[in-house]
Parts: sequence; structure tokens; C-alpha cells
Amino acid sequence: MAIQYLTGKTPSASEVIDLYASAGLNRPIEDAGRIQKMYAHSNLIITAWEGDLLVGVSRALTDLCFCCYLSDLAIRKEYQKNGIGKELVRLTKEAIGDQCMLLLLAAPTAMEYYPKIGMETVNNGFMIKRAR
Ligand SMILES: CC(C)(COP(=O)(O)OP(=O)(O)OC[C@H]1O[C@@H](n2cnc3c(N)ncnc32)[C@H](O)[C@@H]1OP(=O)(O)O)[C@@H](O)C(=O)NCCC(=O)NCCS
Repeated sequence: MAIQYLTGKTPSASEVIDLYASAGLNRPIEDAGRIQKMYAHSNLIITAWEGDLLVGVSRALTDLCFCCYLSDLAIRKEYQKNGIGKELVRLTKEAIGDQCMLLLLAAPTAMEYYPKIGMETVNNGFMIKRAR
């Protein structure tokens, strides 16, 4: 498997929707306009490709000097457990540098994943949930 990693390339909404559907990531994939907007307003997008096929993504918002919120990490189903997710998180951390913390919310199925790739649990987080 020859995977190419690209920083700063924004995939199309349809590529993202196809990836999220395959990964089983719970995002508003029925609304292509909202997906497009999610990507248009993100400033750190790292993608994994096999040829022309989008096989993984890390979508984050960051000030590049203090904080970074990694909103979406998804790997296409048949490409999972090959180290692509771990590499996308590593590249995200590399891009933001040492001054920056990396924060995310884990999906229930990924609660065991993030400690495995070296991330710490936080117990001081708070949120205001979106309405939909
Ligand atoms: C969770 C996800 C991002 C992990 O990416 P991945 O490329 O499949 O995982 P990696 O190959 O980087 O896995 C690294 C290690 O974690 C393990 N692992 C992978 N997915 C795991 C999971 N859901 N729970 C626990 N461990 C997991 C791997 O087996 C591997 O272990 P090893 O080093 O002992 O072999 C990916 O499987 C995915 O897209 N899942 C569906 C969507 C999702 O849940 N996204 C996260 C939203 S918060």
C-alpha cells in the first residue's frame, strides 16, 4: 500500500462524504453544503491518499502557536489499522509545533484508541452542545 500524505489540500465535499460513510464517522454527510463549509473554515487539513482515492483525513482548527482542535479523524474502512490514523495525528502535531496543544473529542468506539497513540485523557473539559 503506497500512501501519500498531503498537508493543505482540501478534498471535495463528495470525497469527504464518501470517506466518512466508509469510516462510519458520525458527521452531517446528508448536507454537502455543511461539509464543504466545515472544510472551507478549517486551517489544518492533512489527507492520506492511495492514488486518487482519499483514504484518510485529519481536519483541525488551530492558531498554530497555542491550541489546536482536531475535529475529524477518519480512515476508510478497508484501510483501517494500517497506521494511517497514527501517522495523520503525528503529522498534525508536527505541523502545529511544540508550543501548541492538541485537543479532541473521541467517538465512543475510539476511546481506547487515543491512549494507544500516546494521548492523555482530560477530565477538565466542558462543552456547549450543538443543537443539531
Ligand atoms: C479510529 C481510527 C481513526 C484509527 O485509525 P487507524 O488508521 O485505523 O488506526 P492505526 O492504524 O493508527 O492504529 C494504531 C493502533 O491503534 C489500534 N486501534 C485502531 N483503531 C482502534 C480503535 N477504534 N480502538 C482501539 N484501538 C484501535 C490499532 O490496532 C493499532 O494498534 P497496534 O499499534 O497495537 O497495532 C479509524 O479506525 C477510524 O476512522 N475509525 C472510524 C471513525 C472514528 O471512530 N474516528 C475517530 C473519531 S474520534
